Amino acid sequence: MDFFQVLANCVRSSFLLGFTTLRRTLPYPVQVFLKHLLIVLSVVTYDSSSRFAPPAFPSSGNGLWYTTPGTIWAQDFLPIGNGYLGAMLPGGTSHEVTQLNIESLWSGGPFQDSSYNGGNHFPSQQTQMAEHMQNIRETIFSSSTGTIDNIDRIMTPSGAYGSYASAGYLLATLDSTGPFSEYARWLDLNEAVSHTTWSDGSSTFLRESFCSHPLQGCVQYLNITDSGVLPALTYAYTVAETGLPAPNVTCLDDATLIIRNYVSIPGMLYEILAQAQAPGGFVSCSEVPGSNPPNATLTVTGASEAWISWFGGTNYDMTAGNTAANYSFQGPDPHNSLAALLSSANMRAPSYAELLDEHIKDYTSIVTPFSLDLGQTPDLNTPTNQILAEYQASVGNPYLEWVLFNYGRYLLASSARGILPANLQGKWAEGYSNPWGADYHSNINIQMNYWSAEMSNMDVTKSLFDYIQNTWGPRGAYTAQVLYNISEGFVTHGEMNIFGHTGMKLGGNSAQWANYPESNAWMMIHVWDHFDYTNDVDWWKTQGWPLVKSVASFHLEKLVEDLYFNDLTLVTVPCNSPEQVPITLGCSHAQQLIWQLFNAIEQGYEAAGDTDTAFLDAVVSKRVQMDKGLRIGSWGQLQEWKVDMDVIHDTHRHLSHLIGLYPGYAIASYSPSLQGDLIINGTFMNYTKEDILNAAAISLTYRGMGTGDDADAGWEKIWRAAAWAQLANETEFYKGLTYAIERNFAPNLFSLYTAGSTIFQIDANLGYPAAVLNALLQAPDVANIGIPLQVTLLPALPPAWSSGEMRGARIRGGITVDLAWNAGKPTTVTFIIDRDLAGRERDVVVNYGGKVVTQFRSNGGYIQTISSF
Ligand SMILES: *[C@@H]1O[C@H](CO)[C@@H](O)[C@H](O)[C@H]1NC(C)=O
Ligand SMILES: *[C@@H]1O[C@H](CO)[C@@H](O)[C@H](O)[C@H]1NC(C)=O
Ligand SMILES: *[C@@H]1O[C@H](CO)[C@@H](O)[C@H](O)[C@H]1NC(C)=O
Ligand SMILES: *[C@@H]1O[C@H](CO)[C@@H](O)[C@H](O)[C@H]1NC(C)=O
Ligand SMILES: *[C@@H]1O[C@H](CO)[C@@H](O)[C@H](O)[C@H]1NC(C)=O
Ligand SMILES: *[C@@H]1O[C@H](CO)[C@@H](O)[C@H](O)[C@H]1NC(C)=O
Ligand SMILES: *[C@@H]1O[C@H](CO)[C@@H](O)[C@H](O)[C@H]1NC(C)=O
Ligand SMILES: *[C@@H]1O[C@H](CO)[C@@H](O)[C@H](O)[C@H]1NC(C)=O
Repeated sequence: MDFFQVLANCVRSSFLLGFTTLRRTLPYPVQVFLKHLLIVLSVVTYDSSSRFAPPAFPSSGNGLWYTTPGTIWAQDFLPIGNGYLGAMLPGGTSHEVTQLNIESLWSGGPFQDSSYNGGNHFPSQQTQMAEHMQNIRETIFSSSTGTIDNIDRIMTPSGAYGSYASAGYLLATLDSTGPFSEYARWLDLNEAVSHTTWSDGSSTFLRESFCSHPLQGCVQYLNITDSGVLPALTYAYTVAETGLPAPNVTCLDDATLIIRNYVSIPGMLYEILAQAQAPGGFVSCSEVPGSNPPNATLTVTGASEAWISWFGGTNYDMTAGNTAANYSFQGPDPHNSLAALLSSANMRAPSYAELLDEHIKDYTSIVTPFSLDLGQTPDLNTPTNQILAEYQASVGNPYLEWVLFNYGRYLLASSARGILPANLQGKWAEGYSNPWGADYHSNINIQMNYWSAEMSNMDVTKSLFDYIQNTWGPRGAYTAQVLYNISEGFVTHGEMNIFGHTGMKLGGNSAQWANYPESNAWMMIHVWDHFDYTNDVDWWKTQGWPLVKSVASFHLEKLVEDLYFNDLTLVTVPCNSPEQVPITLGCSHAQQLIWQLFNAIEQGYEAAGDTDTAFLDAVVSKRVQMDKGLRIGSWGQLQEWKVDMDVIHDTHRHLSHLIGLYPGYAIASYSPSLQGDLIINGTFMNYTKEDILNAAAISLTYRGMGTGDDADAGWEKIWRAAAWAQLANETEFYKGLTYAIERNFAPNLFSLYTAGSTIFQIDANLGYPAAVLNALLQAPDVANIGIPLQVTLLPALPPAWSSGEMRGARIRGGITVDLAWNAGKPTTVTFIIDRDLAGRERDVVVNYGGKVVTQFRSNGGYIQTISSF
């Protein structure tokens, strides 16, 4: 396609939207040209000299604001969401193009291919697979290097893996051509509402958009000042260039559009109901004559305010991902439940003010149990994109760093509270086929999404654990059987969709991506943590423990005796680090994780009310015998693999072997008596904790800053920052954190795959609050509840945050912490122990500046405040 064809297409295509999507793929000068054309066409004169936040912008500065509409989806548009639905807003004036998402709208799976089986082998292949596995292990054990080139014979084509897909666009068009002035758009993070305002010279317009969790719907509101009447307003729907087939758009009634189609033919069914309201005015729905498929629009006239509420769903059903349902994942036509949502919305909240109020109350209740202050001074004179453009690594800007913290929590609260957990893009995706399927990559990404949830006291994990239970468990048990000849528990690998993709996904250079049967173990640490933070015994008994036990049962069977080193230890084989070969034995990452998993079994056994002592005994004895994945290598590094083959300048993006440093604890809480029983070449190696932490620091240093070959994502920088905080190195922590901001964050503060790219990856946004918290308060897990919990106050406080405060932080054991500091030192800290500890009282030691500040027993209801340090 040459430039003039592109231009001709643009002119034909429906306005702003076509430009935005097309422009991204074009050479930069062409993009600039189209951008100017776009602005001319919109007939808006933006007063970019305006340097004051809009009057309604939070005075605390808690939000994002801009003086021009957005043009690039991944860099400029502003996100709203309630977990079920998401939307992205450019902030248009007389024409607004709201990009929509429905959380379960996916291509692929059994909807597209009835023979889809989660990328697995067939039952008849079980014996052959067991033989392959045996042979692969023997090859590794007998090779001089302890490695094998590939394990493709046990892997499987991905089949109809699918992708999370956009749900099209809602168009809102005012019959008003401008010119417009006094433009501003902003996202209010106190209330989770997006706003756009502009003037046509005589009247001022205001548009507000939000997605309400109690409503399970989204709302877009528009009004005009001066008791004026809005020009005719039309609402329409388009799939434009998403790749979705054109749907049926018809009138359900005079005020409601009904949009229905399949994401592909055959494929999943989706429906959107969109209802307009205009008190004092008229709403009509008209079907466009002669369109095939049918098309319709809503028109509002004679009103001074109007809003549209939309609801969306699909016929996906997570609970139909098991043998009883033949893994159909299929539920009923979504129409009836959407119609019920619409009518219940109308009955409960007839006015916009009530809808808004209900939304704000709900959002506030989710985020305000925790709050953070970094001593920032709000900058209300500089738009967010400008603040970011001026931002410099290491120099920093506490105000922007604080906004990003709140934004990470906003994005988690707005994407996780649906039926499905937050995916690689939360719930915001523009295309039909999105980068990495916008799936649930489970070798760091989905984990990082939830790193801050427990400590920042947010009740957002339900969909995560339901998703694991319903879509990982059943088909993962099949994979355990057929691929590993293991009849206990379930297994999953590195890449997961919503259709139980549990197999090892074959692709180019595939083992490094797919050979990750520890994804289940890593997620079980999240399950364990949820219990450890909340002491919610009922939840643990019904959901947490069965999951953890199942995964531990699998790994119990899968560990084998090391016939390479012949040191009588148990190892995983074949293994590789996530996304990094060699394929070898005893990978440190896997060994550390499984050790932590086995500790969770012993720690949670009693509370679960389990009586399976044979299982517990097996876990305890294999835990002693297993290799702990902690070895100091030839250049002082912590070895990534049991065979010492770390390359000194390996700047790989993952910090796989440092998982026990952060977010895990195998390194951070290293115990020589539990983990130090190691004989190498006949020499007894009793590493001290200091030895292990020093080796981890050497590995971390040589891993670089998170910019290297195929390594420039935001998440890897955030991970490094959190790891430096764990090592109490505030200089490296702040350097890493601020480098991520400078390099990877876009004007809309989305984190990008590489500097300046248009690929959005939410993990760095959601991991960011956790990295910040890890510099302020640490209480890493310990192998058992008899070991005191070591709490460290301000372990890596950067000078830029010399005064501040956090309230409502949670640490393990059902403890709430309020902490204030000034001049770089704590001023007060209060520990409030939950009333009901379910028998899980423990010793807590509080440290600051290398000294013990206090210690106490966490008896239920106990409160301790310290104000001298
Ligand atoms: C169950 O699903 C498989 C594909 O996974 C399909 O081949 C089979 O026909 C289905 N059986 C029934 C009874 O629907
Ligand atoms: C598969 O597992 C069964 C039950 O543990 C065992 O008897 C059999 O030998 C295994 N098959 C192979 C090929 O390892
Ligand atoms: C327009 O809506 C905003 C936000 O709901 C409200 O504060 C304002 O009073 C409304 N303006 C008019 C003229 O109704
Ligand atoms: C339906 O009508 C809207 C508004 O005119 C238009 O933008 C959209 O492209 C139409 N859809 C199709 C499939 O033509
Ligand atoms: C769309 O409309 C056509 C013709 O009215 C109908 O046959 C088809 O079933 C409709 N599609 C959906 C998904 O409802
Ligand atoms: C163990 O001994 C072998 C053979 O002497 C040697 O090649 C290897 O480097 C030694 N390993 C370590 C960790 O010292
Ligand atoms: C290893 O060292 C720790 C203290 O650092 C000590 O408690 C433990 O007994 C030692 N283990 C052996 C086997 O010497
Ligand atoms: C932080 O890490 C850097 C790089 O390894 C090192 O030079 C510096 O001494 C460390 N600072 C502290 C306080 O450990």
